[in-house]
Amino acid sequence: MNASAASAPIGVAVIGAGMAGKAHAAAYRAAAGVYRPTLPEIRLVSIADINVELGAEAAARYGFERHDADWRAILADDAIQVVSVVVANFLHREIVEALLAAGKHVLCEKPLSDSIDDARAMADAARAADERGVLARIGYSYLRAPGIAFLRRLIDDGRLGDVFHFSGRYWTDYGSRADAPMSWRYQGPAGSGALGDVGSHLSYIAEYLCGAAREVSGGRFHTAIAERPKPLGAVVGHTRGNVSDELVPVENDDYATFNAAFERCSGTLEVSRVAAGHPNDLSLEIFGSQGAARWSQTNPSQVEVMLHGTSAHPEHDDLTGYRTVPLGPAHPHYAGGWAMDAPGVGIGQNDLFVHQARAFLEEVAGIPEDESLPRCRTFDDGVHNMEFLAAVAESAERGGSAVAV
Ligand SMILES: NC(=O)c1ccc[n+]([C@@H]2O[C@H](COP(=O)([O-])OP(=O)(O)OC[C@H]3O[C@@H](n4cnc5c(N)ncnc54)[C@H](O)[C@@H]3O)[C@@H](O)[C@H]2O)c1
Repeated sequence: MNASAASAPIGVAVIGAGMAGKAHAAAYRAAAGVYRPTLPEIRLVSIADINVELGAEAAARYGFERHDADWRAILADDAIQVVSVVVANFLHREIVEALLAAGKHVLCEKPLSDSIDDARAMADAARAADERGVLARIGYSYLRAPGIAFLRRLIDDGRLGDVFHFSGRYWTDYGSRADAPMSWRYQGPAGSGALGDVGSHLSYIAEYLCGAAREVSGGRFHTAIAERPKPLGAVVGHTRGNVSDELVPVENDDYATFNAAFERCSGTLEVSRVAAGHPNDLSLEIFGSQGAARWSQTNPSQVEVMLHGTSAHPEHDDLTGYRTVPLGPAHPHYAGGWAMDAPGVGIGQNDLFVHQARAFLEEVAGIPEDESLPRCRTFDDGVHNMEFLAAVAESAERGGSAVAV
């Protein structure tokens, strides 16, 4: 079913018009407008959401031809070849399996599911689909961040020397108020809370920088706010709004921390959805024998680097320290990646979805890998990510014991 490079339009649909669904819809609209003009025409066909108002608004805003109240309308539509699945994690499996069976190429949001058994079943379905030329990929949007890719370059080309250790945190505060309403994010097994939500990002980023995780230990979960009010209306993303007086129990982790041994080094990782004052603070720092480097989503257009340099000029030791490097065309993913790709123009999280959509469309279009952005990851990678997080959950359950990944 792969369209050839020079071929017919690719029809696109997005299932879910919530916080990340809108980012996918906007990204498909923009994907042909970055890098070289090699993509076939992208036809924006449908946005499906059971919340009809939301689906209609997103379809109108991003130029999709229609919206559907039932995602099943997409299955039989021959005009649609590519579908993003951007709904709550516990809904991924049913929708993804039906789409793959119908021959649609699927880009599923992370984490693959809220249950490892479901994730493994989805990976089985993906391998079977692959034999029929149908692609199933997972959206690891931060692998598109120029600053994170630059940290990796500094490791790979040896400028940081031997890697000693890594520190990563993904602090958010969307759950820090007790009146934040109950939603799917607070329901599910241990490890499907902050760990599954933002730890799923932090863990693949840590492996991208530090190599494959071997073992985790020191797992600890904490549910800071044990009950939350029922919403009086739809909850989209992290929105608050009117709530009922009725409280329902929070089932999963507000906070999680653990240590991990990776191929290249060891590190500590910490995630939270109750870190007041930190709406979206993904921060990474890596230390090596020649220096250190750090990046944060708070200032995503820059990387800070500290290199020891030579000892030939000890008189300059008083200038040793971190310096700020503004990201620009000299850095990964940057040149051609935006209409204005000069240093200092600013890039953000929404931009990463554009590059992710483009990478997926390039693969669907059959554009060779060496002429494309790095491919999106497979469902097997998605299962591995969940196994990594499951090891953290097991460590937490066993009082912090070491657990192999
Ligand atoms: N890559 C990222 O940076 C990123 C950021 C946020 C969320 N996500 C992921 O995206 C997914 C969705 O998260 P979100 O924050 O957008 O959720 P959300 O709750 O904001 O939106 C989900 C949408 O799905 C709709 N929906 C529910 N049941 C449906 C059904 N049966 N058919 C069609 N639509 C249905 C809801 O009405 C809602 O609009 C999750 O897997 C999440 O982990 C990824």
